[in-house]
Amino acid sequence: MTDQAKTATLEFEGKSVDLPILSGSTGPDVIDIRKLYGGTGAFTFDPGFTSTASCESGLTYIDGDAGVLLHRGYPIDQLASKSNFVEVCHLLLHGELPTAAQYEKFENSITVHTMLHSQFDRFFEGFRRDAHPMAIMVGTVGALSAFYHDSLDIHDPVQRDISAIRLIAKMPTIAARAYKYHIGQPFASPRNDLSYAENFLRMCFAVPAEDYHVDPALVRAMDRIFILHADHEQNASTSTVRLAGSSGANPFACIAAGIACLWGPSHGGANEEALTMLKEIGTPDKIPEFIQGVKDRKFKLMGFGHRVYKNYDPRAKVMQQSAYEVLAATGRENDPLFQVAKELEKVALQDEYFTSRKLFPNVDFYSGITLSAMGFPTTMFTVLFALARTVGWIAQWQEMMADPSQKIGRPRQLYTGPTERDYLPIDQRG
Ligand code: SDX
Repeated sequence: MTDQAKTATLEFEGKSVDLPILSGSTGPDVIDIRKLYGGTGAFTFDPGFTSTASCESGLTYIDGDAGVLLHRGYPIDQLASKSNFVEVCHLLLHGELPTAAQYEKFENSITVHTMLHSQFDRFFEGFRRDAHPMAIMVGTVGALSAFYHDSLDIHDPVQRDISAIRLIAKMPTIAARAYKYHIGQPFASPRNDLSYAENFLRMCFAVPAEDYHVDPALVRAMDRIFILHADHEQNASTSTVRLAGSSGANPFACIAAGIACLWGPSHGGANEEALTMLKEIGTPDKIPEFIQGVKDRKFKLMGFGHRVYKNYDPRAKVMQQSAYEVLAATGRENDPLFQVAKELEKVALQDEYFTSRKLFPNVDFYSGITLSAMGFPTTMFTVLFALARTVGWIAQWQEMMADPSQKIGRPRQLYTGPTERDYLPIDQRG
């Protein structure tokens, strides 16, 4: 943060309080209100945190009006086209793109932690086969804290680092097992000779009955999808991870809390809902009727709109390109859902209802088509989002835990319930 010479003065019921204005390296200034309650006796009120900065961070910057997303200063479209997910993990965790030697050491640290304790497999047995894979993810990731007692001391930076590596390394193994358990197929173990994305695809789709070969175009697309979902500033699930971590909870429990929050259809669950929506529309000629239903507020256009982006989500542009490449690689160039999605986007972006509300496609609008073409059922879409977002969650948690000034998060409220009253015996009520 730069100098605090600038201040904002608040006059309230005869009281006056000077509030420092803090400036970051870019983006909006913030009004530091930490002294507000002490100086005025009043709280701020901001349900949904539409005007609230919850923390200082150097990880990810979003300019919602310009449709810009930077990870440690690097634009998402450059990372998606020139980097790979493991390198982006290093960037988010350590602040810089790795040298060749750093990359090799970092990648190896992930590779050697992809396995799960053999007793862990029995966790899956407790779920019904038709359990939603996100229910399995919430339960099993939280259970990791029952296996790795040597990395639960959150005040030890070495243990914080090993927890981060374990989570990034084991999420693909857990996610693939959630899928395999769901469809009743045997688990496939991770292989150290495969890249992160290829290892994951093989654990999902390989069967003992035959050798597994995957189109490199699908591996590239998977890796790119992981990059697009890696981190996204203080979104709902990241804020959940930070709030859980502020109490001193262990990192595995914090990530499980983030997974639970991501599951919601307004957040990470939107990719599953968006594909279901496209299937329900079915053909381009049904789009006008659907749009009218949105205007009549019967339902939302899933995969559209964003709290921060009031322009095209830069990830959606890359995702649309990935969708095209995966459809081509899988012989589905004329996929009817892709045609519906492109026509729906075109119609919405020309309709005043959407443009006046600055509603544009977000990362979830095209991801479902891509993931479906890769062979994933819709119930796995948010699992893949959680797999990729784990690095963002744990990097944000690391950043918070390394901040000596961090305190337990404890918001206040505007109380509108009954004021004090005396207890009445039951025979005096009514
Ligand atoms: C993600 O925060 C992040 O960064 C999240 C994320 C990440 O990477 O972590 O980017 C991932 O969650 C992307 C968003 C995925 N969700 C969806 O696609 C679900 C559909 N979108 C909406 O639910 C909504 O747009 C939100 C929740 C994403 C944002 O909602 P806001 O910021 O609270 O906006 P709002 O509800 O106040 O909407 C403003 C207006 C309202 O109309 P009016 O009441 O003013 O007339 O726009 C309307 C809303 O009804 N609106 C929509 C709409 N989204 C908002 N109308 C139709 N379809 C939509 N999708």
